[in-house]
Amino acid sequence: MSAPEIQPTEPHGSISLRIMPAPADTNHLGNIFGGWVLSQMDVAGALHVTNLTNQRVVTVAVESMKFHKPVQVGDEVTCYTRTGRVGRTSMEVVIETWVRKQYKKGPLLHVTSGTFVYVAIDEAGTPTPIKLDTEAASR
Ligand SMILES: CC(C)(COP(=O)(O)OP(=O)(O)OC[C@H]1O[C@@H](n2cnc3c(N)ncnc32)[C@H](O)[C@@H]1OP(=O)(O)O)[C@@H](O)C(=O)NCCC(=O)NCCS
Repeated sequence: MSAPEIQPTEPHGSISLRIMPAPADTNHLGNIFGGWVLSQMDVAGALHVTNLTNQRVVTVAVESMKFHKPVQVGDEVTCYTRTGRVGRTSMEVVIETWVRKQYKKGPLLHVTSGTFVYVAIDEAGTPTPIKLDTEAASR
């Protein structure tokens, strides 16, 4: 039997993206498509890396993804990001997605978590060493 999963009680990381889904983003059950949430998290993770490096990056892998709770139209969706492992050309970003329901009056809920990996590339699309840009990071 696996150990019970410990859920964070508050967001960890910095806000990289905030957005509100529309009816066009729903699935046949009336919830927001998992793929929509995944794509927002992918953008949030890429912004996290470019904010720290000022480099062109691409996603090489989604190492883990878990949908804890459904997202609904009108939820305020926020992706919180933090740096994980940093390699030579790649950076792992741990992403938590939280929603605020009912136009700020409702609870803050942890809906999705994932670990995405990005690779810095040059103009030709070849992996290039990650260079932390302290000026970019402080802007
Ligand atoms: C990302 C890409 C440039 C990597 O090219 P590659 O020739 O496979 O590069 P490498 O084998 O040298 O790996 C580059 C880095 O990615 C990491 N990596 C490669 N595959 C990985 C995987 N499945 N999971 C985690 N990290 C991975 C490597 O460990 C390496 O990291 P490091 O330098 O920090 O050790 C290339 O695969 C690509 O262009 N993929 C398409 C990207 C894309 O279109 N993404 C979606 C839209 S943004």
